[in-house]
Amino acid sequence: MSRYYLTTPIYYVNSTPHIGHAYTTIAADILVRHQRQRGDETFFLTGTDENASKNVRAAEEAGVDPKTFVDDLVEDHWRPLPARVGASPDFFIRTTDEGHHRFVQEFVQQIYDNGHIYEDIYAGLYCVSCEEFKTEDQLTPDGLCLEHGTKPEWIEERNWFFRLSAFQEQLLRLYDERPDFVLPDFRYNEARSFIAGGLRDFSLSRAGQPWGVPVPWDPEQVVYVWVDALVNYLSALTYARPGEDLREEFWPVAHHLIGKDILRFHCVFWPALLLAAGYEVPRQIFVHGWLLFGDRKISKSSGNVIEPLELTEIYGIDALRFYAARVARFGQDGNASADDLHERYERELGNDLGNLVSRTTAMIVRYREGRIEPAAWDSPFRAELEQLARLVPARLDEYDLSGALEAIWVVIRSLNRYVEERAPWQLAKDATKSEELDRTLYDLADGLRAVAIALAAYLPETASRILVALGQSDDLAWEGVAYGRTAAAEGIAAAEPLFPRVELETAVA
Ligand code: MSP
Repeated sequence: MSRYYLTTPIYYVNSTPHIGHAYTTIAADILVRHQRQRGDETFFLTGTDENASKNVRAAEEAGVDPKTFVDDLVEDHWRPLPARVGASPDFFIRTTDEGHHRFVQEFVQQIYDNGHIYEDIYAGLYCVSCEEFKTEDQLTPDGLCLEHGTKPEWIEERNWFFRLSAFQEQLLRLYDERPDFVLPDFRYNEARSFIAGGLRDFSLSRAGQPWGVPVPWDPEQVVYVWVDALVNYLSALTYARPGEDLREEFWPVAHHLIGKDILRFHCVFWPALLLAAGYEVPRQIFVHGWLLFGDRKISKSSGNVIEPLELTEIYGIDALRFYAARVARFGQDGNASADDLHERYERELGNDLGNLVSRTTAMIVRYREGRIEPAAWDSPFRAELEQLARLVPARLDEYDLSGALEAIWVVIRSLNRYVEERAPWQLAKDATKSEELDRTLYDLADGLRAVAIALAAYLPETASRILVALGQSDDLAWEGVAYGRTAAAEGIAAAEPLFPRVELETAVA
């Protein structure tokens, strides 16, 4: 059995979850669910990054202590995020967890003991929103942060430095030996040229901060929040299951999913820190683009503007998951909009898939009293489903979420054409065509069953509804994506529409 460990970035708690955060979580959930279907032992981690100094300020402004402040945000907004998009992580890490603190201390102590940390004075401009020291080329001509448009603060303090420069050669070797360490290729190139351009040591601690993980050999300082955050991918494995050390099973088979804005931290700093502490580097890092939602304001019928993430309340969770995977090739930026979501909901989910399920079940009711009999034959769907069973895993192994989904849609379209070509309503009029009608209905039911299994990672709820509607088992094992596995069933009823019509005026105003 293979093991598969997938992580999302851990989210800053100071904002509320939006569609961009949901995007990574959805993509990760699709990949993990698929891997589970293939029989892999999986571990899916997500969580929150809470030790940023900006939380101390925000808490002060809110008049509460920092822990109460982050607890409220996490419980009200962040812990519910996975369920809001149908994701089921195995563990939700908070960097304020005691287990995380303990491990971060152990981890940096190892780096210190291995001689990769030294003391020095740091002076420079620090952007609190990025939690990063800025060089001049990272600022506007007026000296503002390129990302946030805010004025960075001048900081001068005694810090502990990580000897990143010493890892340049080793990192370059790693990149040369493992051309798929970072995907897609253009991100690999970006990371590699950053390393080749020369690496500067960075400060691994911050002085005079009451919030964060104390540096074990100098408790006056706390561990730099980005180091503390990156370590979550390892720390979680040490305490997610009390009494178990999951590192043995899931390190280094880690796959990190990240947005393009945090590439350097993950593709350069993180492997160097791991090597310095004596760990193997993760298996792979996939860098995705941004999902940009059109600026047209989306309003509820009440007139209140809604966050695109709330579109699940109108279209359902599966529709948003579908759209996230469909809107752009994963890795590239995607231009999303409520209109586009609506159009795809109607055409692809409603017409292509939903109607096919309704028609198929209705015909089984009308022509065969709700019964499906085994009628596998030398059907064209044998080859089609074989191809589907091969293409989807191959594409998902390359994080090609939209490509794998397209392979499934090829079969859905083909099933729709089959209905038209075979015209069961004609066959039903001719008693000599009874066997042909059996075969046709069987092929439609069987194709839909296989499609449901293939789609389950994307549309978990819909997949299960299709299998129930066809009287089939809920076994999602990937072997089921094959022709002729539909079991005899009776009592099938005409299915309710899977994707009921949504009036655009209600959805978006
Ligand atoms: N806390 C850090 C990550 C630490 S990981 C050890 C952080 N948090 S974040 O909340 O600002 O961003 C988390 C992720 O959300 C990043 O991968 C970022 O790229 C992603 N997204 C935020 N907005 C986004 C879009 N509009 N589209 C796609 N993803 C974007 O960075």
